[in-house]
Amino acid sequence: MKKIKVAVLCSGGGTNLQAIIDFAAQGKLRHGSVELVISDRSDAYALERARQNGIATAVFDKRDIPDRAIRERRMLECLDSFGIELVVLAGFMTVIGKEFVDRYSMRIINIHPALIPSFAGMGMYGLHVHEAALQRGVKITGATVHYVNEVCDGGPIIEQKAVRVRAGDTPETLQKRVMREAEWSILPRSVEKVCKKLSEE
Ligand code: GRF
Repeated sequence: MKKIKVAVLCSGGGTNLQAIIDFAAQGKLRHGSVELVISDRSDAYALERARQNGIATAVFDKRDIPDRAIRERRMLECLDSFGIELVVLAGFMTVIGKEFVDRYSMRIINIHPALIPSFAGMGMYGLHVHEAALQRGVKITGATVHYVNEVCDGGPIIEQKAVRVRAGDTPETLQKRVMREAEWSILPRSVEKVCKKLSEE
């Protein structure tokens, strides 16, 4: 069966990438294959995780290519050269532009560490999301996988998972629980779900 070629874009530790790699190793990514990992940071540990698993890597570091449009153009050329059909943003800190979104319309998905529409939109990334949730005093938060469109965190929702906030939680303890209890399960499942859908188109 022809598998959908997937690229995962990361800026940091890559624990969500690892979750996808582990999911695939268990034979659960039946309709997709992770062919490439891209980072905008040459020191991202996600690149090491890719190398450890024999996955091709590419770096488009903003320190080497400060011009965002040029950096994005080079990324698109790289994705094309690998025949990528689905782009997964897993903690990717560069905002992708209109050209990228249009080129991969309904073929980019993102993991957001909150239950969109709560704690989403410009400026809501990483620990800021969990700081805002604790500040608001919500009892339940979680994570969302959604399609990426031109609106920040605005695309159709694919899957969500709730996580209880605990008394005494700090942004760091909450972030870890949301990753462990939600992100690392809904992202790999969503990659398979979208790959299956794309393979049936
Ligand atoms: C995750 O919390 C994800 O929700 C957010 O960035 C973080 C990435 O972590 N978008 P990792 O690089 O996958 O460990």
